Amino acid sequence: MWRDLLPIGRHEATGGYRRFAWTAADTDCRAWFRAQAESRGLAYELDRNGNQWAWWGDPAGADAVVTGSHLDSVPEGGAFDGPLGVVSSFAAVDELLARGARPNRPLAVVNFGDEEGARFGVACVGSRLTAGRLTAEGAHALRDADGVSLAQAMERAGHDPAAIGPDHERLARIGAFVELHVEQGRALDRTGHPIGVASAIWPHGRWRFDFRGEANHAGTTRLEDRRDPMLTYANTVLAARKKARLAGALATFGKVSVEPNGVNAIASLVRGWLDSRAADEETLASVVAEIERTAVERGQRDGVEVTVTRESFTPVVEFAHGLRDELAALLGGVPVLPTGAGHDAGILSDAVPTAMLFVRNPTGVSHSPAEAATEDDCLAGVTALADVLEGLACR
Ligand code: GLV
Ligand code: MN
Ligand code: MN
Repeated sequence: MWRDLLPIGRHEATGGYRRFAWTAADTDCRAWFRAQAESRGLAYELDRNGNQWAWWGDPAGADAVVTGSHLDSVPEGGAFDGPLGVVSSFAAVDELLARGARPNRPLAVVNFGDEEGARFGVACVGSRLTAGRLTAEGAHALRDADGVSLAQAMERAGHDPAAIGPDHERLARIGAFVELHVEQGRALDRTGHPIGVASAIWPHGRWRFDFRGEANHAGTTRLEDRRDPMLTYANTVLAARKKARLAGALATFGKVSVEPNGVNAIASLVRGWLDSRAADEETLASVVAEIERTAVERGQRDGVEVTVTRESFTPVVEFAHGLRDELAALLGGVPVLPTGAGHDAGILSDAVPTAMLFVRNPTGVSHSPAEAATEDDCLAGVTALADVLEGLACR
């Protein structure tokens, strides 16, 4: 499975992945998923929100056990964030077959569409739409950096966007969702265990900061006559770091765009995207409010207008204790740990009993080509997932 998947969307020079939603690379990943389903005789289904399903048993049956993750990536992503969960799910199905285990409830592997939100700015679009946490109107308003709407992108990739929206009936048929994911930190590495179970996901969100000034000549405009949004932006980046540090939170400006983006022109507009996360929602709200206040104050000194738009938000997720404890028991005393990373499992957790398994990442690095997992640990992940699926669906 890895051999077929690894070249898709891979940048030759860096080894990083660009598998943005509804692009050619995404289409190739989707074709791979469908081929995996069909080669195992699983019933393939594409839902109205662009999520792919591979069913062992009746797709319309009740109390299904679902496992899976996503295949899209961030810009210059690693190989494992997302795909490890999907590959491991198919491998766990193979393992159940090899064990002679047969599910007595429907069992499905899922690939949720557009988890990273790298193209349209909102993360977990496929699961958010399904759970009604992103409205169809909200989704239709999304545009990529070239102005292409989500609906246009879907259409160009051959998916009809007309029916996107909540799919509560589908979620009501799921009795448990388990997502296996590479760990995005080194907590497991420090414990010496290859596998862990998730306790919680920190609340997190994305805010777009627009800094509007005035374009002018870099060689002829006196410093005191400038309205330079780059200054306000730079100060805001430093302030974000400080506010986050003081609050024990995280704040990152990882994406920026500049107009007109000329070496010898003062910028007219700087757009910076803030990703911020904290252990609780109150801390997160106060860190973001502080960053915004600092930006606006500094903007007044620079003659720069600052507007802040929240583009997405995910509240704190505390995974269902029943399922989480069942998993920990099935796996025999593995570590239970929280994460700062967002996941489809978090989006679904209000509607469906949901749990996550983490596989050790020796570099701790993620959203980068340096993301890693050893073959032994990946195989331990498959065994753990098969144990969990057997325990949930085959007894
Ligand atoms: C998804 O990986 C996120 O946490 O941004
Ligand atoms: Mn990710
Ligand atoms: Mn992921």
